[in-house]
Amino acid sequence: MTDRTKLIQAALDCLKNSYAPYSQFNVAAAVLCASGKVYTGVNVENASYPAGICAERNAIFHAAACGEREITAIAIVGGKGGIVSDYCTPCGVCRQVMREFADPGKLTVIVAKSPDDYKEFTLAQLLPESFGPEFLK
Ligand code: THU
Repeated sequence: MTDRTKLIQAALDCLKNSYAPYSQFNVAAAVLCASGKVYTGVNVENASYPAGICAERNAIFHAAACGEREITAIAIVGGKGGIVSDYCTPCGVCRQVMREFADPGKLTVIVAKSPDDYKEFTLAQLLPESFGPEFLK
């Protein structure tokens, strides 16, 4: 099984845990770190709408909370009612959060419908001319 297949499957496996009672749009993400470990996350909505969080950020913050500081790939799956019928591309805020922990030219962002049906981008493609931690050094 390739890293890509494993990552997509990890995201699909945790999609059932997405908490999206307001939008009914369920999303899950699995992030592969430089350590080789995989961390998952789902979107978690809130009655006070802006307090909710996307799946991608939840997965990345999960990794950061476990001590990870470099991500190499992220797989994202999602859809209305938990039915993954299209590619779910990450929102702008999540792209910026990916930027914090990755080299934009090297981070692989996978959006998938299934382990065999996916699209791949680099973060540099999804977030060109970006602002990152090195600007503040
Ligand atoms: N959402 C994600 O979790 N990731 C994305 O990339 C796009 C949107 C969530 C946020 C909210 O809970 C729901 O999908 C509808 O916007």
